[in-house]
Amino acid sequence: MAREQQSWRHEPAPPWQRPAIGKHPIPGHRYTSREFFEREFEHMWTKVWLLLGRESELPNPGDWQMEEVGPESILMVRQADGRIRAFYNVCQHRGNRLVASAQGHVRRFVCKYHGWAFLPDGVLDFAQDAEDFPDGNPCGKVRLKEIPCETFAGFVWVNMDPHAGSLRDYLGPIWDDWSMYPVADMQRYLAYTVRVPCNWKVIQDNFNESYHLRAVHPQASVTIEEGYRDTQFDMCAEGHSRMIMHAGYPARSLSGRKLREPLMALMQEWDLDPEAFVGREREIRPALQQQKRKLGPARGYTHYDNLRDEQLTDFYHYTVFPNFAVSVTADGFHFLRTRPHPTDPEQCIFDNWFYATEPAGDTAPVMTPAGPVARGARVEHVVLDYGDRSVGVGMDQDLSIVTGQQLGFRSRGFEGVYLSGQEARVRRYHEVIDEYLDGTRPHGRLNARTVPIRSAT
Ligand code: FES
Ligand SMILES: [Fe+2]
Repeated sequence: MAREQQSWRHEPAPPWQRPAIGKHPIPGHRYTSREFFEREFEHMWTKVWLLLGRESELPNPGDWQMEEVGPESILMVRQADGRIRAFYNVCQHRGNRLVASAQGHVRRFVCKYHGWAFLPDGVLDFAQDAEDFPDGNPCGKVRLKEIPCETFAGFVWVNMDPHAGSLRDYLGPIWDDWSMYPVADMQRYLAYTVRVPCNWKVIQDNFNESYHLRAVHPQASVTIEEGYRDTQFDMCAEGHSRMIMHAGYPARSLSGRKLREPLMALMQEWDLDPEAFVGREREIRPALQQQKRKLGPARGYTHYDNLRDEQLTDFYHYTVFPNFAVSVTADGFHFLRTRPHPTDPEQCIFDNWFYATEPAGDTAPVMTPAGPVARGARVEHVVLDYGDRSVGVGMDQDLSIVTGQQLGFRSRGFEGVYLSGQEARVRRYHEVIDEYLDGTRPHGRLNARTVPIRSAT
């Protein structure tokens, strides 16, 4: 069906594409097999750019953060010149892990085994009995093994491939899309890290489709516009995808006539009377855009000026290959990331974080996916096991499904997926994984079958 014509405020979006998608089988063993899990790590995880840290959490030289990706542990360290560099968290004497906690500040990293001390730039500065090494004094000579590291959108990205291309080339059109939003200035208002008993791809698959909304999230089952027919699905040769949900929020219940929360609260916040729009739900989106445009700057939302009209209301949901899903709106950034367990294909680590703008002059609570949070509050990072406590209604609903799905993937009764058109990004995602496993990516051709989306029907 024809997409609604937009009144583009600026230039059209960059060239997202619509790849030809095959009939790629997706059997259960992809989520359970240890052999497949190890191939993924060897050929895919170690070849891609990974979003690993937040620049603002490493403000001063010597500040460091440690994150794990499968069996690897990676240190990100702020340097004296302001750059951030990344190193494997491995002492180069006899392989001990250098740090065991999540973050800190050092003048030197001191290994607990024999006391070797490395400077923040990775160079060995002290070794006990330095004269007693037949190959020569290791100080100034031995260094931590460095990993390519770049920053973008306020995040720290690393790539374990020493021959990695640039992050900008890797992100493709996402780079330009995100550059329009003030993502780097957003503050974190939600930070749950959950150990979940499922393969990391089960969660990513879930974020690659909105077909499950009606069954799993009845509270979000009807958008202002009508659902998937008004949702735009795009992909790009770099392996990423996006889904643009017009107006984002549900307008009314399936049977009722009254508008729903949080849409009503949002309309009231922007001086619109929800009652006046009952029966005229499709007029809400342009009305909200107009109000935000008119009232936003005086309320401190100066970044609205950089955004197109539709970006003021619509949810832009991205999947950055391989493990990062994010819903970007004019006012916030819902960060959903999975990482593989060090050894078990049937477990993963899931981050459910939320970042929001902090416009001067707006004191209303921030609406996070887990409820309102006082503006300006600094939230605690909570690490927990699945089921320990709620991490927000929507994510609780998703996690209850993915854990059951993992059990189904183990069954000899499951013969592979049967996908709808609106789940095409799931199949495409698995195709990209296999392009890494068979060596087509990242150094070969990306995907010769892609065609520009603007010429697609
Ligand atoms: S293993 Fe680190 S100092 Fe020996
Ligand atoms: Fe969901």
